[in-house]
Amino acid sequence: MWFAQAPANIALIKYMGKMDPIKNIPANPSLSYTLDNLLSFVEIEKSTGNVDRWEPLQIPGAGAFSLSDFAQKRFLEHLSHMKSVYQYSGHLVVRSCNNFPTGSGLASSASSFAALTKCASLALSEITGQEQKSLDELANLSRTGSGSSCRSFYSPWALWDDTSVQSLELSYSNLIHHVILISKDEKLVSSSAAHQLVVSSPFYAERPTRAKDNLRTCLDALYNKNWDVLYNVVWREFMDMHNLFATCEEPFSYITDETRGILDDIARYWETHGDGPLVTMDAGPNIHLLFRDDQQELANHFRLFLLKDHDIL
Ligand code: DP6
Repeated sequence: MWFAQAPANIALIKYMGKMDPIKNIPANPSLSYTLDNLLSFVEIEKSTGNVDRWEPLQIPGAGAFSLSDFAQKRFLEHLSHMKSVYQYSGHLVVRSCNNFPTGSGLASSASSFAALTKCASLALSEITGQEQKSLDELANLSRTGSGSSCRSFYSPWALWDDTSVQSLELSYSNLIHHVILISKDEKLVSSSAAHQLVVSSPFYAERPTRAKDNLRTCLDALYNKNWDVLYNVVWREFMDMHNLFATCEEPFSYITDETRGILDDIARYWETHGDGPLVTMDAGPNIHLLFRDDQQELANHFRLFLLKDHDIL
């Protein structure tokens, strides 16, 4: 049996839109912070059956884990791709789970595809007697399963452009991460579908230019430890992506009244205090907050007072 784990990541500069949807080549560079506490676990075992199959991985003390049929199919397709890379035709049982609540609407494809790629590579290199692949090779393989998973191989910051991903040593390497859970329902539009839908927005053509500008500002702010500049650009960036969702031919939105209310509260906190957490949202309704390591008290204050009526992870 083989076992691997991988962390999730949250993008400050978003991957939205693909140059090549088969290989998951992004339309613009993205930058993420790796979330070491949100983990996916994968176990692989040889099977005597005549198909590969997925099962939930049971972890003592953890609740039951499930994956939709669609998610299981995507997972097994990536396993099949990994088998073809290693030219292996036998069958495998793959088991997986996450240590964060199932169905919480958190993007878990990054951590689960990174863990699957690592585990399949461990298993297949041993079974076929081939050399272990390098981290860069694994990240590239993982990218073809789910784009954002390639960033989960690097820490604390990961910069992904085209087919290259690297870790960056930047300031703020020890952030405190909280998620405000707005909805636990399955998302109506998956991020993979969002990548396809946004191309019809009139704002899509200039999106790579805006993303690159935002990336430059973000990196400058990270190098120069300029927290309020960082807060502003990170906010502008997620809103830019959500604006693509709202302006495409079949518009959709994850920003509910509740989300809007919380975003307004946080913006007001920043206006009054001149400080606060970074705020971002992925292709989902939940709000991610990132506090500096010297803001632990503020993080507690948010959890206990400002956000006391909401589920926080
Ligand atoms: C909004 O990596 O989930 O979270 O490559 O189709 O699997 P696929 O898409 P995915 O897209 C993530 C989009 C995002 C922003 C980001 O993480 O950069």
